[in-house]
Amino acid sequence: MARLVSVNVGLPQDVAWQGKTVRTGVWKYAVAGPRMVRRLNVDGDGQGDLAGHGGEYRAVLVYQLDSYRHWQEYLGRDDFVYGQFGENFTVDGLPDDEVRIGDRFQVGEALFEVTQPRVTCYRVGLRMGEPQMAALLVSHRRPGFYLKVLVEGRVEAGQEFVKVDSGPEEVTVADIDALLYLPGHSRRQLARALRIPALSPGWRTSLEALLDQADGASGAAGGNAGLAPAVSPPPAWPGFRPLRVKRIEAESASVFSVTLAAPDGGSRPAASDGDPRPATPGIDPLPAAPGGGPLPAALPGQFLTVRVPSEGGGPSLIRSYSLSGPPGGAEYRLSIKQEPHGVASGYLRAHLRTGDVLECAAPRGAFTLVAGDGPVVFISAGIGATPVMAMLHTLAAERSSREVWWLYGARDGTEHPFADESRDLLGRLANAHRHVCYSRPAPGDRQGVDYHSRGRLSLDLLCGLGLPRGADTYVCGPPALMRDLPVALAASALAPSHVRTEIFGAGPSLTPGVTSASVAPVHPPAGPPGDGPAVSFARSGLTVSWSTAYMSLLELAEACDVPTRWSCRTGVCHNCESGLLAGSVDYSPEPLDAPAEGDALICCSRPREDVILDL
Ligand SMILES: Cc1cc2nc3c(=O)[nH]c(=O)nc-3n(C[C@H](O)[C@H](O)[C@H](O)COP(=O)(O)OP(=O)(O)OC[C@H]3O[C@@H](n4cnc5c(N)ncnc54)[C@H](O)[C@@H]3O)c2cc1C
Ligand code: FES
Repeated sequence: MARLVSVNVGLPQDVAWQGKTVRTGVWKYAVAGPRMVRRLNVDGDGQGDLAGHGGEYRAVLVYQLDSYRHWQEYLGRDDFVYGQFGENFTVDGLPDDEVRIGDRFQVGEALFEVTQPRVTCYRVGLRMGEPQMAALLVSHRRPGFYLKVLVEGRVEAGQEFVKVDSGPEEVTVADIDALLYLPGHSRRQLARALRIPALSPGWRTSLEALLDQADGASGAAGGNAGLAPAVSPPPAWPGFRPLRVKRIEAESASVFSVTLAAPDGGSRPAASDGDPRPATPGIDPLPAAPGGGPLPAALPGQFLTVRVPSEGGGPSLIRSYSLSGPPGGAEYRLSIKQEPHGVASGYLRAHLRTGDVLECAAPRGAFTLVAGDGPVVFISAGIGATPVMAMLHTLAAERSSREVWWLYGARDGTEHPFADESRDLLGRLANAHRHVCYSRPAPGDRQGVDYHSRGRLSLDLLCGLGLPRGADTYVCGPPALMRDLPVALAASALAPSHVRTEIFGAGPSLTPGVTSASVAPVHPPAGPPGDGPAVSFARSGLTVSWSTAYMSLLELAEACDVPTRWSCRTGVCHNCESGLLAGSVDYSPEPLDAPAEGDALICCSRPREDVILDL
């Protein structure tokens, strides 16, 4: 019979770590006598970061004495105290390879149910002084597990764990942990695990994504769809390939479109093929050798990353542009806004000519139109129209019968790209609606024709339009729109089924527990520059040299204040998975499960050569 050896509690505290402050409740200490266990916590206990820990399904963390003995031997340590692994209950018995998800135990007055294995998080390594601990717990198949409190009550060290019910499907804690984090996600095992009612919602979502991947329904061809923040098919070609500029066209006062095609082996376009000016010094002429066959189809909503030559012949700039034209054709169309003082957009506007060649990485991105029959709402403003234009092209080409809403915001008619094109595409759909807002209409702009309302796109305005409930909603626009509208929309009475967003810059960071996260603009790292390969952070517009002073690309990114996402920092959780647009990396430690093709786990990798990351 398993026995409760120690009840451990600890409230969140601030801990210094790598020059930052982390708020964490991972330090737990043994308490004597009976303790009340409630739905969310043992009395006197707390979690520092409720997004990653705690809650109804993760109320009590259990760890086993047998694993204490294993780690003492493996790590050569003899200094462990109860609560060492951040657990609330230290138990004698209940090994991870015997306890099943859904098992129920009576301990003292309280009744518990097993819901999921431990969350993989760097903080157990912080507590242990062993940075690799999160990965070791998984690879040694000794994670420990969480309990849900079914009946609240007092418990005390020395009491027995009386098993009152067995989890269905016979899936143990060690089995389900391996199913998510280790390679070989058996479809049969996934289906079995998903039949367990007690499984926590977070794990259920991850395993469902893995099952979709196993069934080929997610479109993710590699990597771990249960862990990666977003998945998309692997890039159609590695690194960059040359594409020829076929046309350059004005779309509005500040936006111009660039149509790219596969090089044709060296012939220049005729003057009638678009811009008649000669090819530009500074931009490569057409290569003698073709750049590798016809263009693979992109998914509607994906973006292309381009090397833009810099004024004066310095290192090229890396910029991404969403594809705005009809996907699936022989050409890619980019639409670029000339930003005031924008280096790349200014250069392209001033110097790019028909016939020039641009080095481009393959289309990427998971902000793509999802097939279905339900209503679709496109919300965009300014240059944010580009990815949703590609989606609108797709629906129009299919003569889709879906209800489609096109909601767009611009300053005035001179800054309204794709006005005729979008109207024409919507006209080909059976059930389309359009609403355009101008924040400052020009005197010649006609209300009811060029635009419908004066002002900006806001939740109030959207709520008044009669949008369908449960629509698939796609949002892309300037920072002010992206900051509040998608969240407000998801919480509104409109209740879209999904709100998908595209951000034209660095994404939001995920730094669990760090309270002193910097919001400084990106910058080269302090200290003498490194002498290693060049590391480019494409979304942040920064290229720096690698230095062996850093343990990983993640550490270099942090030293530059490039926004990053991470949790375990040791190759397990895939939160740090980022697009590797060019170059290759070496891993140490090796990730437990490989990232998707074309991606890298930056927490455990270093550049083998010059690399470009989609960060
Ligand atoms: C996934 C993705 C898709 C994208 N899709 C598109 C797209 O379809 N079309 C598009 O146009 N862009 C798109 N972008 C944005 C694009 O990649 C560039 O970031 C953008 O064009 C600005 O690049 P830039 O070199 O011209 O400006 P930068 O030189 O990088 O400047 C960035 C910003 O700072 C401002 N700035 C620079 N210098 C100064 C100064 N001295 N004083 C004041 N302000 C200054 C500029 O006005 C600009 O707004 C996308 C980005 C991503 C990540
Ligand atoms: S942060 Fe977990 S895999 Fe990189």
